[in-house]
Amino acid sequence: MSKTQLNEKHPCSSPHGSAGLNLQASVVFSAASGIEERVAFSLIRDAWQKISTPVPVSGLAREKPLCFIPPVGPGVVNIAAVNFVDNALGERILSIHEFGGEEFAAVKGTALRVPSRENLIVLVTGSEPVVEIGVPAGLPDRPLQIDIWVKLSRDTDDCHDILRSLSDMANWRSLLLPENAGSAPGKLMKFAKVLENAGCPDCAVTVLERGIESHPEEGGLYEALAELAMKRRDWAEAVKRRQDVAALQGEKASALVYRRLDEAYKKQKYFPKGEPEEEMGVGDLDKYRMLAIIHHDLAPELYLEIGVQLGKSLVLADCEAIGVDPMPQIDLDLFENVRIMDLSSDDFFAGPAAVLLNKKPDMVFIDGMHLFEYALRDFMNVEKFAGAHTLAVIDDIFPAHPAQAERRRKTRAWTGDVWKLYKVLQQYRPDLFFLPINTFPTGLLLIAGLKPGNETLSEKYEEILAGYTSDMQPPEDILQRKGVLPPTHPAIEELLNALKDARERNDKPEGGAS
Ligand SMILES: C[S@@+](CC[C@H](N)C(=O)[O-])C[C@H]1O[C@@H](n2cnc3c(N)ncnc32)[C@H](O)[C@@H]1O
Repeated sequence: MSKTQLNEKHPCSSPHGSAGLNLQASVVFSAASGIEERVAFSLIRDAWQKISTPVPVSGLAREKPLCFIPPVGPGVVNIAAVNFVDNALGERILSIHEFGGEEFAAVKGTALRVPSRENLIVLVTGSEPVVEIGVPAGLPDRPLQIDIWVKLSRDTDDCHDILRSLSDMANWRSLLLPENAGSAPGKLMKFAKVLENAGCPDCAVTVLERGIESHPEEGGLYEALAELAMKRRDWAEAVKRRQDVAALQGEKASALVYRRLDEAYKKQKYFPKGEPEEEMGVGDLDKYRMLAIIHHDLAPELYLEIGVQLGKSLVLADCEAIGVDPMPQIDLDLFENVRIMDLSSDDFFAGPAAVLLNKKPDMVFIDGMHLFEYALRDFMNVEKFAGAHTLAVIDDIFPAHPAQAERRRKTRAWTGDVWKLYKVLQQYRPDLFFLPINTFPTGLLLIAGLKPGNETLSEKYEEILAGYTSDMQPPEDILQRKGVLPPTHPAIEELLNALKDARERNDKPEGGAS
Protein backbone atom coordinates (compact mmCIF):
# COMPACT_ATOMS: atom_id res chain seq x y z
CA MET A 1 0.00 0.00 0.00
CA SER A 2 1.48 3.36 -0.99
CA LYS A 3 1.43 6.37 1.26
CA THR A 4 -1.11 8.01 -1.03
CA GLN A 5 -3.39 5.00 -0.85
CA LEU A 6 -3.14 4.98 2.89
CA ASN A 7 -3.94 8.64 2.99
CA GLU A 8 -6.93 8.16 0.76
CA LYS A 9 -8.19 5.32 2.84
CA HIS A 10 -7.58 6.81 6.25
CA PRO A 11 -7.23 10.52 5.76
CA CYS A 12 -5.25 12.11 8.52
CA SER A 13 -7.90 14.12 10.24
CA SER A 14 -5.68 16.08 12.52
CA PRO A 15 -1.99 16.37 13.23
CA HIS A 16 -1.04 15.57 16.79
CA GLY A 17 -0.96 18.53 19.07
CA SER A 18 -4.10 20.18 17.73
CA ALA A 19 -7.05 21.24 19.87
CA GLY A 20 -9.62 18.76 21.18
CA LEU A 21 -7.20 15.93 21.83
CA ASN A 22 -7.77 14.21 25.08
CA LEU A 23 -6.21 10.77 25.16
CA GLN A 24 -2.56 10.01 25.68
CA ALA A 25 -0.65 7.22 24.01
CA SER A 26 3.08 6.71 23.89
CA VAL A 27 5.73 5.06 21.82
CA VAL A 28 8.69 3.67 23.70
CA PHE A 29 12.09 3.04 22.14
CA SER A 30 14.55 1.00 24.11
CA ALA A 31 17.96 -0.29 23.15
CA ALA A 32 20.28 -3.02 24.38
CA SER A 33 22.51 -0.27 25.75
CA GLY A 34 19.70 0.59 28.19
CA ILE A 35 18.79 3.91 26.60
CA GLU A 36 15.07 4.34 26.68
CA GLU A 37 13.05 7.09 25.14
CA ARG A 38 9.32 7.56 25.54
CA VAL A 39 7.37 9.84 23.22
CA ALA A 40 3.85 10.77 24.27
CA PHE A 41 1.07 11.60 21.84
CA SER A 42 -2.42 12.89 22.16
CA LEU A 43 -4.95 10.80 20.31
CA ILE A 44 -8.24 11.72 18.79
CA ARG A 45 -11.10 9.32 19.18
CA ASP A 46 -12.88 7.82 16.21
CA ALA A 47 -10.65 9.27 13.51
CA TRP A 48 -7.64 7.96 11.68
CA GLN A 49 -4.53 9.78 12.75
CA LYS A 50 -0.87 9.58 11.92
CA ILE A 51 1.53 9.58 14.82
CA SER A 52 4.88 10.59 13.45
CA THR A 53 8.09 10.56 15.41
CA PRO A 54 11.77 10.61 14.58
CA VAL A 55 13.81 7.71 15.93
CA PRO A 56 16.03 9.69 18.23
CA VAL A 57 19.05 7.41 18.06
CA SER A 58 19.39 5.29 14.95
CA GLY A 59 20.25 2.14 16.94
CA LEU A 60 17.04 2.21 18.94
CA ALA A 61 14.70 0.85 16.30
CA ARG A 62 17.14 -1.88 15.32
CA GLU A 63 17.98 -3.34 18.71
CA LYS A 64 14.85 -3.77 20.77
CA PRO A 65 11.15 -4.05 20.03
CA LEU A 66 9.33 -0.82 19.74
CA CYS A 67 6.37 -0.50 22.07
CA PHE A 68 3.18 1.34 21.38
CA ILE A 69 1.17 1.98 24.50
CA PRO A 70 -2.43 2.86 23.73
CA PRO A 71 -4.48 4.84 26.23
CA VAL A 72 -5.64 2.97 29.28
CA GLY A 73 -9.20 1.68 29.46
CA PRO A 74 -11.61 -0.38 27.45
CA GLY A 75 -12.03 0.32 23.80
CA VAL A 76 -10.54 -0.49 20.46
CA VAL A 77 -7.28 0.63 18.96
CA ASN A 78 -6.98 0.11 15.23
CA ILE A 79 -3.47 0.24 13.84
CA ALA A 80 -3.59 0.49 10.08
CA ALA A 81 0.11 0.66 9.46
CA VAL A 82 3.49 1.16 11.07
CA ASN A 83 5.87 2.64 8.57
CA PHE A 84 9.57 3.20 8.97
CA VAL A 85 10.57 6.14 6.81
CA ASP A 86 14.12 7.04 5.85
CA ASN A 87 14.34 10.67 6.84
CA ALA A 88 17.19 11.50 4.50
CA LEU A 89 15.53 10.03 1.40
CA GLY A 90 11.93 10.59 2.46
CA GLU A 91 11.12 6.97 1.44
CA ARG A 92 9.20 4.33 3.31
CA ILE A 93 11.59 1.50 4.11
CA LEU A 94 9.35 -0.92 5.90
CA SER A 95 5.68 -1.24 6.56
CA ILE A 96 3.81 -3.49 8.94
CA HIS A 97 1.88 -4.84 5.94
CA GLU A 98 5.00 -6.22 4.38
CA PHE A 99 5.68 -8.33 7.44
CA GLY A 100 2.21 -9.81 7.77
CA GLY A 101 0.96 -9.12 11.29
CA GLU A 102 1.73 -12.44 12.98
CA GLU A 103 5.39 -12.22 13.97
CA PHE A 104 5.73 -8.54 13.51
CA ALA A 105 3.59 -7.31 16.32
CA ALA A 106 2.53 -8.87 19.57
CA VAL A 107 0.65 -7.76 22.56
CA LYS A 108 1.88 -7.93 26.08
CA GLY A 109 0.30 -7.38 29.41
CA THR A 110 -3.46 -7.47 29.52
CA ALA A 111 -4.22 -6.35 26.01
CA LEU A 112 -5.50 -8.70 23.37
CA ARG A 113 -4.65 -8.76 19.78
CA VAL A 114 -7.08 -9.75 17.10
CA PRO A 115 -5.39 -9.86 13.71
CA SER A 116 -7.84 -8.96 11.02
CA ARG A 117 -7.36 -9.05 7.32
CA GLU A 118 -6.37 -5.44 6.83
CA ASN A 119 -5.57 -3.82 10.11
CA LEU A 120 -4.01 -4.81 13.33
CA ILE A 121 -6.82 -4.31 15.79
CA VAL A 122 -6.17 -4.21 19.47
CA LEU A 123 -9.01 -4.55 21.87
CA VAL A 124 -7.78 -2.67 24.85
CA THR A 125 -9.12 -4.44 27.85
CA GLY A 126 -6.63 -4.13 30.63
CA SER A 127 -4.98 -1.40 32.61
CA GLU A 128 -1.69 -1.32 30.76
CA PRO A 129 -1.83 -2.69 27.26
CA VAL A 130 1.32 -2.73 25.21
CA VAL A 131 1.55 -3.43 21.50
CA GLU A 132 5.01 -4.69 20.82
CA ILE A 133 6.37 -4.17 17.34
CA GLY A 134 9.19 -6.65 16.89
CA VAL A 135 12.66 -5.67 15.71
CA PRO A 136 12.39 -5.39 11.95
CA ALA A 137 15.29 -6.81 9.99
CA GLY A 138 17.10 -4.67 7.48
CA LEU A 139 16.66 -1.21 8.92
CA PRO A 140 19.49 1.09 7.82
CA ASP A 141 21.81 2.62 10.36
CA ARG A 142 20.67 6.17 9.82
CA PRO A 143 18.00 8.43 11.27
CA LEU A 144 14.48 7.18 10.68
CA GLN A 145 11.05 8.41 11.23
CA ILE A 146 8.28 6.10 12.38
CA ASP A 147 4.72 6.73 11.30
CA ILE A 148 1.95 4.84 13.02
CA TRP A 149 -1.54 5.11 11.59
CA VAL A 150 -3.92 4.69 14.40
CA LYS A 151 -7.59 5.09 15.26
CA LEU A 152 -8.94 4.92 18.74
CA SER A 153 -12.47 4.14 19.71
CA ARG A 154 -14.04 3.93 23.11
CA ASP A 155 -17.32 2.74 21.70
CA THR A 156 -17.94 -0.76 22.94
CA ASP A 157 -20.23 -1.37 19.96
CA ASP A 158 -17.06 -1.19 17.96
CA CYS A 159 -15.58 -4.08 19.96
CA HIS A 160 -18.76 -5.93 19.36
CA ASP A 161 -18.69 -5.37 15.61
CA ILE A 162 -15.11 -6.48 15.39
CA LEU A 163 -15.84 -9.65 17.31
CA ARG A 164 -18.84 -10.34 15.13
CA SER A 165 -16.91 -9.80 11.95
CA LEU A 166 -14.35 -12.46 12.78
CA SER A 167 -15.37 -15.15 10.43
CA ASP A 168 -14.07 -18.42 11.79
CA MET A 169 -12.71 -20.20 14.79
CA ALA A 170 -9.19 -20.00 13.45
CA ASN A 171 -9.33 -16.32 14.24
CA TRP A 172 -10.55 -16.97 17.75
CA ARG A 173 -7.83 -19.49 18.34
CA SER A 174 -5.20 -17.01 17.32
CA LEU A 175 -6.17 -14.67 20.11
CA LEU A 176 -3.29 -13.97 22.37
CA LEU A 177 -4.26 -14.15 25.97
CA PRO A 178 -2.08 -13.10 28.87
CA GLU A 179 -1.81 -16.66 30.15
CA ASN A 180 -2.19 -18.69 27.07
CA ALA A 181 -3.32 -21.83 28.83
CA GLY A 182 -6.21 -24.28 28.74
CA SER A 183 -8.38 -25.80 26.08
CA ALA A 184 -9.97 -23.64 23.41
CA PRO A 185 -13.33 -23.27 25.24
CA GLY A 186 -11.44 -22.51 28.46
CA LYS A 187 -9.53 -19.86 26.58
CA LEU A 188 -12.72 -18.34 25.25
CA MET A 189 -14.27 -18.27 28.70
CA LYS A 190 -11.23 -16.48 30.01
CA PHE A 191 -11.35 -14.07 27.12
CA ALA A 192 -15.02 -13.41 27.80
CA LYS A 193 -14.19 -12.68 31.42
CA VAL A 194 -11.54 -10.17 30.37
CA LEU A 195 -14.04 -8.42 28.10
CA GLU A 196 -16.67 -8.40 30.80
CA ASN A 197 -14.23 -6.93 33.31
CA ALA A 198 -13.26 -4.37 30.72
CA GLY A 199 -16.81 -3.11 30.69
CA CYS A 200 -18.06 -4.78 27.53
CA PRO A 201 -20.41 -7.60 28.63
CA ASP A 202 -21.98 -7.60 25.15
CA CYS A 203 -18.59 -8.49 23.73
CA ALA A 204 -18.27 -11.29 26.26
CA VAL A 205 -21.66 -12.62 25.15
CA THR A 206 -20.54 -12.55 21.52
CA VAL A 207 -17.38 -14.48 22.34
CA LEU A 208 -19.30 -17.13 24.27
CA GLU A 209 -22.01 -17.46 21.61
CA ARG A 210 -19.35 -17.88 18.95
CA GLY A 211 -17.70 -20.46 21.18
CA ILE A 212 -20.94 -22.44 21.36
CA GLU A 213 -21.08 -22.54 17.55
CA SER A 214 -17.79 -24.44 17.52
CA HIS A 215 -18.12 -26.27 20.83
CA PRO A 216 -21.83 -27.00 21.19
CA GLU A 217 -21.07 -29.72 23.73
CA GLU A 218 -19.20 -27.44 26.11
CA GLY A 219 -21.47 -26.82 29.10
CA GLY A 220 -19.13 -24.23 30.60
CA LEU A 221 -19.88 -21.81 27.76
CA TYR A 222 -23.63 -22.02 28.48
CA GLU A 223 -22.96 -21.68 32.20
CA ALA A 224 -20.87 -18.58 31.56
CA LEU A 225 -23.68 -17.10 29.44
CA ALA A 226 -26.19 -17.88 32.19
CA GLU A 227 -23.98 -16.17 34.77
CA LEU A 228 -23.62 -13.13 32.54
CA ALA A 229 -27.38 -13.03 32.02
CA MET A 230 -27.90 -13.16 35.79
CA LYS A 231 -25.49 -10.27 36.30
CA ARG A 232 -27.35 -8.29 33.67
CA ARG A 233 -30.63 -9.18 35.37
CA ASP A 234 -31.83 -10.82 32.19
CA TRP A 235 -33.57 -13.63 34.08
CA ALA A 236 -35.40 -15.08 31.05
CA GLU A 237 -32.10 -15.51 29.23
CA ALA A 238 -30.59 -17.02 32.37
CA VAL A 239 -33.46 -19.54 32.51
CA LYS A 240 -32.88 -20.49 28.88
CA ARG A 241 -29.15 -20.91 29.35
CA ARG A 242 -29.55 -22.99 32.52
CA GLN A 243 -32.03 -25.14 30.68
CA ASP A 244 -29.46 -25.52 27.89
CA VAL A 245 -27.06 -26.87 30.51
CA ALA A 246 -29.71 -29.30 31.76
CA ALA A 247 -30.41 -30.39 28.17
CA LEU A 248 -26.72 -30.99 27.64
CA GLN A 249 -26.06 -32.85 30.85
CA GLY A 250 -29.25 -34.91 30.78
CA GLU A 251 -29.45 -37.41 33.61
CA LYS A 252 -26.11 -36.19 34.92
CA ALA A 253 -27.45 -32.68 35.52
CA SER A 254 -26.37 -31.84 39.05
CA ALA A 255 -28.37 -30.37 41.91
CA LEU A 256 -26.37 -27.19 41.35
CA VAL A 257 -27.74 -26.80 37.82
CA TYR A 258 -31.29 -26.97 39.20
CA ARG A 259 -30.46 -24.65 42.08
CA ARG A 260 -29.20 -22.02 39.69
CA LEU A 261 -32.17 -22.59 37.37
CA ASP A 262 -34.43 -22.15 40.35
CA GLU A 263 -32.74 -18.86 41.26
CA ALA A 264 -33.32 -17.56 37.73
CA TYR A 265 -36.95 -18.71 37.77
CA LYS A 266 -37.57 -17.08 41.13
CA LYS A 267 -36.15 -13.79 39.94
CA GLN A 268 -38.07 -14.00 36.70
CA LYS A 269 -41.30 -14.93 38.47
CA TYR A 270 -43.24 -14.91 35.22
CA PHE A 271 -41.48 -15.93 32.07
CA PRO A 272 -42.02 -13.17 29.45
CA LYS A 273 -45.03 -13.75 27.22
CA GLY A 274 -44.75 -14.44 23.52
CA GLU A 275 -47.26 -13.20 20.96
CA PRO A 276 -50.91 -13.68 22.03
CA GLU A 277 -51.45 -16.54 19.56
CA GLU A 278 -48.32 -18.25 20.87
CA GLU A 279 -49.70 -18.23 24.39
CA MET A 280 -53.11 -19.64 23.66
CA GLY A 281 -54.41 -22.92 25.05
CA VAL A 282 -56.89 -25.34 23.53
CA GLY A 283 -59.17 -27.97 25.05
CA ASP A 284 -62.63 -28.93 26.25
CA LEU A 285 -61.87 -29.19 29.96
CA ASP A 286 -59.21 -27.78 32.23
CA LYS A 287 -56.49 -30.36 32.89
CA TYR A 288 -56.84 -30.07 36.68
CA ARG A 289 -60.54 -30.93 36.41
CA MET A 290 -59.68 -33.93 34.28
CA LEU A 291 -57.00 -35.02 36.74
CA ALA A 292 -59.51 -34.66 39.58
CA ILE A 293 -61.92 -36.96 37.67
CA ILE A 294 -59.16 -39.53 37.15
CA HIS A 295 -58.24 -39.43 40.86
CA HIS A 296 -61.89 -39.88 41.74
CA ASP A 297 -62.55 -42.78 39.36
CA LEU A 298 -59.26 -44.61 39.79
CA ALA A 299 -58.93 -43.92 43.52
CA PRO A 300 -55.17 -44.59 43.52
CA GLU A 301 -53.59 -45.90 46.71
CA LEU A 302 -50.12 -44.78 45.72
CA TYR A 303 -49.66 -41.74 43.48
CA LEU A 304 -46.36 -40.52 42.03
CA GLU A 305 -45.91 -37.10 40.45
CA ILE A 306 -42.85 -35.93 38.58
CA GLY A 307 -42.68 -32.13 38.50
CA VAL A 308 -44.86 -30.66 41.25
CA GLN A 309 -44.08 -26.94 41.08
CA LEU A 310 -46.72 -25.14 43.20
CA GLY A 311 -48.55 -28.37 44.04
CA LYS A 312 -51.68 -27.64 42.00
CA SER A 313 -51.88 -31.17 40.61
CA LEU A 314 -50.35 -32.86 43.65
CA VAL A 315 -53.03 -31.42 45.91
CA LEU A 316 -55.58 -33.58 44.08
CA ALA A 317 -54.09 -36.74 45.58
CA ASP A 318 -55.72 -37.72 48.85
CA CYS A 319 -53.82 -40.99 49.07
CA GLU A 320 -50.22 -41.86 49.83
CA ALA A 321 -48.29 -39.73 47.36
CA ILE A 322 -44.73 -38.90 46.34
CA GLY A 323 -43.89 -35.67 44.52
CA VAL A 324 -40.49 -35.36 42.84
CA ASP A 325 -39.08 -31.98 41.86
CA PRO A 326 -35.56 -30.53 42.16
CA MET A 327 -37.03 -27.07 42.74
CA PRO A 328 -40.49 -27.44 44.27
CA GLN A 329 -42.35 -24.24 45.14
CA ILE A 330 -45.32 -25.73 46.97
CA ASP A 331 -47.65 -23.03 48.22
CA LEU A 332 -50.73 -25.18 48.88
CA ASP A 333 -51.69 -27.31 51.87
CA LEU A 334 -51.05 -30.85 50.81
CA PHE A 335 -52.48 -33.97 52.45
CA GLU A 336 -50.23 -35.16 55.24
CA ASN A 337 -49.43 -38.42 53.48
CA VAL A 338 -47.69 -36.58 50.64
CA ARG A 339 -43.92 -36.75 50.55
CA ILE A 340 -41.89 -34.27 48.50
CA MET A 341 -38.56 -35.45 47.15
CA ASP A 342 -36.39 -32.46 46.46
CA LEU A 343 -34.56 -34.20 43.59
CA SER A 344 -34.48 -34.42 39.83
CA SER A 345 -36.48 -37.39 38.60
CA ASP A 346 -33.27 -39.03 37.32
CA ASP A 347 -31.73 -38.80 40.79
CA PHE A 348 -34.94 -40.02 42.38
CA PHE A 349 -35.12 -43.13 40.20
CA ALA A 350 -31.41 -43.80 40.60
CA GLY A 351 -31.70 -43.59 44.41
CA PRO A 352 -34.67 -43.46 46.79
CA ALA A 353 -37.21 -44.88 44.31
CA ALA A 354 -36.00 -48.41 45.07
CA VAL A 355 -37.10 -48.01 48.69
CA LEU A 356 -40.07 -45.65 48.33
CA LEU A 357 -41.68 -47.47 45.42
CA ASN A 358 -41.74 -50.86 47.13
CA LYS A 359 -45.44 -50.80 46.28
CA LYS A 360 -46.33 -50.32 42.61
CA PRO A 361 -47.87 -46.89 42.00
CA ASP A 362 -51.45 -46.89 40.71
CA MET A 363 -51.15 -43.54 39.01
CA VAL A 364 -48.14 -41.54 37.83
CA PHE A 365 -48.30 -38.00 36.48
CA ILE A 366 -45.27 -37.06 34.34
CA ASP A 367 -44.92 -33.28 34.21
CA GLY A 368 -41.23 -32.58 34.94
CA MET A 369 -38.61 -31.10 32.62
CA HIS A 370 -40.27 -30.29 29.31
CA LEU A 371 -37.59 -31.71 27.11
CA PHE A 372 -38.40 -34.84 25.17
CA GLU A 373 -35.50 -36.95 26.41
CA TYR A 374 -36.34 -36.14 30.04
CA ALA A 375 -39.98 -37.16 29.53
CA LEU A 376 -38.83 -40.32 27.78
CA ARG A 377 -36.48 -41.25 30.63
CA ASP A 378 -39.24 -40.47 33.12
CA PHE A 379 -41.56 -42.85 31.30
CA MET A 380 -38.87 -45.55 31.07
CA ASN A 381 -38.10 -45.25 34.78
CA VAL A 382 -41.77 -45.23 35.73
CA GLU A 383 -42.33 -48.40 33.74
CA LYS A 384 -39.57 -50.18 35.68
CA PHE A 385 -41.54 -49.58 38.89
CA ALA A 386 -44.99 -50.08 37.36
CA GLY A 387 -47.55 -52.83 37.62
CA ALA A 388 -49.97 -53.91 34.92
CA HIS A 389 -52.58 -51.76 36.68
CA THR A 390 -50.46 -48.56 36.67
CA LEU A 391 -51.82 -45.59 34.77
CA ALA A 392 -49.26 -43.11 33.42
CA VAL A 393 -50.52 -39.63 32.58
CA ILE A 394 -48.34 -37.38 30.44
CA ASP A 395 -48.92 -33.63 30.41
CA ASP A 396 -48.23 -31.18 27.56
CA ILE A 397 -48.48 -33.71 24.80
CA PHE A 398 -50.35 -31.31 22.45
CA PRO A 399 -48.71 -27.88 22.08
CA ALA A 400 -51.35 -25.35 21.06
CA HIS A 401 -48.82 -23.44 18.95
CA PRO A 402 -45.42 -24.44 17.46
CA ALA A 403 -43.72 -21.72 19.55
CA GLN A 404 -44.75 -23.55 22.74
CA ALA A 405 -43.00 -26.67 21.50
CA GLU A 406 -39.53 -25.20 21.06
CA ARG A 407 -36.80 -26.84 23.07
CA ARG A 408 -35.45 -23.45 24.11
CA ARG A 409 -38.27 -21.81 25.95
CA LYS A 410 -39.58 -18.62 24.36
CA THR A 411 -43.16 -18.49 25.62
CA ARG A 412 -44.79 -18.54 29.03
CA ALA A 413 -46.99 -21.44 27.93
CA TRP A 414 -44.25 -23.98 27.35
CA THR A 415 -44.78 -27.63 26.43
CA GLY A 416 -41.28 -28.14 25.08
CA ASP A 417 -40.98 -31.11 22.74
CA VAL A 418 -42.76 -33.58 25.01
CA TRP A 419 -45.11 -34.31 22.04
CA LYS A 420 -42.31 -36.48 20.62
CA LEU A 421 -42.84 -38.96 23.43
CA TYR A 422 -46.25 -39.85 22.02
CA LYS A 423 -44.74 -40.42 18.55
CA VAL A 424 -41.86 -42.49 19.91
CA LEU A 425 -44.09 -44.69 22.05
CA GLN A 426 -46.46 -45.27 19.12
CA GLN A 427 -43.49 -46.27 16.98
CA TYR A 428 -41.45 -48.34 19.45
CA ARG A 429 -44.13 -49.56 21.83
CA PRO A 430 -47.28 -50.32 19.87
CA ASP A 431 -48.14 -52.78 22.66
CA LEU A 432 -49.02 -49.87 24.98
CA PHE A 433 -52.56 -48.53 25.19
CA PHE A 434 -53.02 -44.80 24.60
CA LEU A 435 -55.88 -42.42 25.25
CA PRO A 436 -55.11 -38.83 24.19
CA ILE A 437 -57.53 -36.41 25.85
CA ASN A 438 -58.53 -32.94 24.70
CA THR A 439 -57.86 -31.03 27.90
CA PHE A 440 -57.04 -27.36 28.24
CA PRO A 441 -54.45 -25.98 27.65
CA THR A 442 -52.08 -28.58 26.16
CA GLY A 443 -53.71 -32.01 26.36
CA LEU A 444 -53.09 -35.12 28.41
CA LEU A 445 -52.08 -38.60 27.30
CA LEU A 446 -53.18 -41.63 29.32
CA ILE A 447 -50.99 -44.71 28.91
CA ALA A 448 -51.80 -48.17 30.21
CA GLY A 449 -50.39 -51.65 29.71
CA LEU A 450 -46.98 -50.80 31.19
CA LYS A 451 -44.58 -53.75 31.41
CA PRO A 452 -41.64 -53.48 33.80
CA GLY A 453 -39.66 -56.16 31.99
CA ASN A 454 -39.90 -54.56 28.54
CA GLU A 455 -36.40 -53.43 27.46
CA THR A 456 -37.26 -51.99 24.04
CA LEU A 457 -36.90 -48.34 25.01
CA SER A 458 -33.65 -48.76 26.91
CA GLU A 459 -32.20 -50.86 24.10
CA LYS A 460 -33.19 -48.26 21.50
CA TYR A 461 -32.54 -45.21 23.68
CA GLU A 462 -29.57 -43.85 21.70
CA GLU A 463 -31.28 -44.50 18.37
CA ILE A 464 -34.41 -42.70 19.57
CA LEU A 465 -32.45 -39.73 20.86
CA ALA A 466 -30.51 -39.44 17.61
CA GLY A 467 -33.78 -39.26 15.69
CA TYR A 468 -35.73 -36.96 17.97
CA THR A 469 -33.70 -34.53 20.09
CA SER A 470 -33.10 -31.94 17.39
CA ASP A 471 -35.47 -29.02 16.93
CA MET A 472 -38.41 -30.08 14.81
CA GLN A 473 -41.81 -28.55 14.32
CA PRO A 474 -44.64 -30.58 15.78
CA PRO A 475 -46.44 -32.29 12.88
CA GLU A 476 -49.97 -31.27 11.88
CA ASP A 477 -51.62 -34.31 13.50
CA ILE A 478 -50.17 -33.20 16.85
CA LEU A 479 -51.08 -29.53 16.36
CA GLN A 480 -54.56 -30.50 15.15
CA ARG A 481 -54.89 -33.10 17.96
CA LYS A 482 -55.90 -35.81 15.53
CA GLY A 483 -57.61 -38.77 17.22
CA VAL A 484 -57.96 -36.94 20.52
CA LEU A 485 -60.91 -37.86 22.73
CA PRO A 486 -63.23 -35.44 24.51
CA PRO A 487 -62.83 -35.65 28.29
CA THR A 488 -66.32 -37.16 28.55
CA HIS A 489 -65.58 -40.05 26.20
CA PRO A 490 -66.74 -43.38 27.72
CA ALA A 491 -63.43 -45.06 26.84
CA ILE A 492 -61.78 -43.04 29.62
CA GLU A 493 -64.12 -44.32 32.29
CA GLU A 494 -63.83 -47.86 30.91
CA LEU A 495 -60.06 -47.73 31.08
CA LEU A 496 -60.04 -46.38 34.63
CA ASN A 497 -62.51 -49.07 35.75
CA ALA A 498 -60.47 -51.80 34.06
CA LEU A 499 -57.29 -50.63 35.81
CA LYS A 500 -59.03 -50.37 39.13
CA ASP A 501 -60.44 -53.88 38.73
CA ALA A 502 -57.05 -55.19 37.73
CA ARG A 503 -55.54 -53.72 40.87
CA GLU A 504 -58.29 -55.10 43.08
CA ARG A 505 -58.06 -58.57 41.55
CA ASN A 506 -54.31 -58.27 41.49
CA ASP A 507 -54.84 -59.23 37.89
CA LYS A 508 -52.04 -58.60 35.38
CA PRO A 509 -53.55 -58.64 31.90
CA GLU A 510 -51.11 -59.25 29.07
CA GLY A 511 -50.93 -56.97 26.01
CA GLY A 512 -52.74 -53.86 27.19
CA ALA A 513 -55.45 -52.82 29.52
CA SER A 514 -58.26 -51.98 27.16
C1 LIG B 1 -44.98 -27.53 34.68
S1 LIG B 1 -44.27 -27.65 36.21
C2 LIG B 1 -45.26 -28.85 37.04
C3 LIG B 1 -46.62 -28.39 37.29
C4 LIG B 1 -47.48 -29.27 38.16
N1 LIG B 1 -47.40 -30.67 37.83
C5 LIG B 1 -48.91 -28.81 37.99
O1 LIG B 1 -49.59 -29.32 37.10
O2 LIG B 1 -49.32 -27.94 38.75
C6 LIG B 1 -42.81 -28.51 35.87
C7 LIG B 1 -41.98 -28.79 37.10
O3 LIG B 1 -40.98 -29.71 36.71
C8 LIG B 1 -39.87 -29.48 37.52
N2 LIG B 1 -38.68 -30.09 36.94
C9 LIG B 1 -37.75 -29.55 36.13
N3 LIG B 1 -36.80 -30.44 35.87
C10 LIG B 1 -37.14 -31.58 36.52
C11 LIG B 1 -36.53 -32.82 36.64
N4 LIG B 1 -35.38 -33.11 36.02
N5 LIG B 1 -37.13 -33.76 37.41
C12 LIG B 1 -38.30 -33.49 38.02
N6 LIG B 1 -38.91 -32.30 37.93
C13 LIG B 1 -38.34 -31.35 37.19
C14 LIG B 1 -39.81 -27.98 37.61
O4 LIG B 1 -39.09 -27.60 38.76
C15 LIG B 1 -41.27 -27.59 37.68
O5 LIG B 1 -41.64 -27.38 39.00
